[in-house]
Amino acid sequence: MTPTATDNDSVADRPAAGLVGEAPPSPAGPLEPGELDGLAMPPSVPLPRLAQSLRFNQRQIEFVFRARRELGEVFRMHGATEDATIVTSHPDHVRSLFTASPEQAPSLTGESPLRPIVGPDSVLTAVGRRHMRQRKLLLPAFHGEAIEAYTQMISEATEREIDSWPVGEPFALAPRMQAITLDVIMAGIFGIEGKPAPRTPEHGLRQMVKRLVAASTRPEAQITELLHIGRDEAMGAMRIGLAMLDRQVYAVIEARRRAADLDERRDILSLLLRARTESGEALSDKELRDELLVLVLAGHETTANSLAWAWERLVRTPDAHEALLSAVRSGEGAEERIEATIVEAMRSRPVIPLIGRRVMVPWRLGEYGVPAGTAVTISILLVHHREDLYPQPFDFRPERWIGHKPGTYEWIPFGGGIRRCLGAALAMAEQHVVLEAMARRLDLEADDPAPERALHRNVTMIPSRGARVVVRARHA
Ligand code: HEM
Repeated sequence: MTPTATDNDSVADRPAAGLVGEAPPSPAGPLEPGELDGLAMPPSVPLPRLAQSLRFNQRQIEFVFRARRELGEVFRMHGATEDATIVTSHPDHVRSLFTASPEQAPSLTGESPLRPIVGPDSVLTAVGRRHMRQRKLLLPAFHGEAIEAYTQMISEATEREIDSWPVGEPFALAPRMQAITLDVIMAGIFGIEGKPAPRTPEHGLRQMVKRLVAASTRPEAQITELLHIGRDEAMGAMRIGLAMLDRQVYAVIEARRRAADLDERRDILSLLLRARTESGEALSDKELRDELLVLVLAGHETTANSLAWAWERLVRTPDAHEALLSAVRSGEGAEERIEATIVEAMRSRPVIPLIGRRVMVPWRLGEYGVPAGTAVTISILLVHHREDLYPQPFDFRPERWIGHKPGTYEWIPFGGGIRRCLGAALAMAEQHVVLEAMARRLDLEADDPAPERALHRNVTMIPSRGARVVVRARHA
């Protein structure tokens, strides 16, 4: 396997075909005292605050594309965080934020809607030293070698799923992809492979995780999430659901702590049970629980929807679809074509369309300046649709990536810097295995030629009808 996009560190190669370009330079970064005075604030979206929040949360794509068209590549809006937010989409601004120290530009994930579920101290929600401590502990579990160990299991889960799909009847791919990625995450994180026996802590845990994910993606959960922003604890029905889930998580932790083969096990829970910080401390059960839930919640729906989008695009782009099938079935250039297809799908439909940092000192963003304390977000969607970086940005063209690596500040579906997605290598490996198996074994069609709209669920952007397809033929 060659997950080149995850090594995401070079912008050196530029394709001759003119399918990837360059943005003109734009100065960005921390300002010295007094320098802010000469710079204007970015222009504001000219709508009442509530109207902005509603439109942004319901139709983020239309909202940000319109704001960029009318106001330029840096603008100010309400809706993404409690206070006003700056939105930018220039790669130089992205670089300034990704390379800043955590003291100067901490991540906005500390204010994530997942905070009431995973608490303030997890790798996702913590900032500063605490974040680095948790990240260091988790990193070994996500290195290339650790991921390689999962590919066989990903492949088996995928083949089982494909065998169960109906032929000739339309169905939504997203829930099917989610079944695979849930299997993978449960095996990778908890070491629970296949269907656990009923009445075991593992079985209870799998059921509760499914329920939690289903509950958090219902439309009414959106409102609950908004009310939860900034809180450290869940409320109402979510609180009761979480208490039940916690019982199962703690039971699994307790059982694993006593397992005779703990020292040999390679799942993430066992790794974390053995891990010690530099000062020799072990993680408490509460810390373990928080990290495990982060990984489950951050890891499986995102990957599932990324795959769903890839197929939503493929079945509506015959050239790209045929090129993938022929490469995979002939074996010629298969790895490169699969990689290019995934990279292009994540460019054109990034599952997390917006990420951010809070600048703690005044910051320059091109011709504008913003004061200390401002939330500055990066619209991944807008960066990925810049005409100068990606000519014909709305076309789905995997050839952009044949022979070329994505740029660190131009292709950013996994974010960047010290907050870059911890599961990026796992997500790329999963997408490789699943895309390959589906291209090899299935002749797929769209159930309807009209593209699926993007729907916003919590912080993610997913296909509105779950990427509905029809299997025309399934090969052995
Ligand atoms: C296609 C699938 C995925 C996408 C698009 C995605 C995207 C992202 C993004 C955009 C961020 C924020 C980065 C930033 O602010 O710079 C993030 C963070 C994170 N992701 Fe993922 N992710 C995916 C899969 C996964 C998987 C499989 C896991 C783990 C099993 C995972 C675990 C995490 C964690 C722990 C963080 C927080 C990292 C930190 O703050 O240090 N993600 N992800």
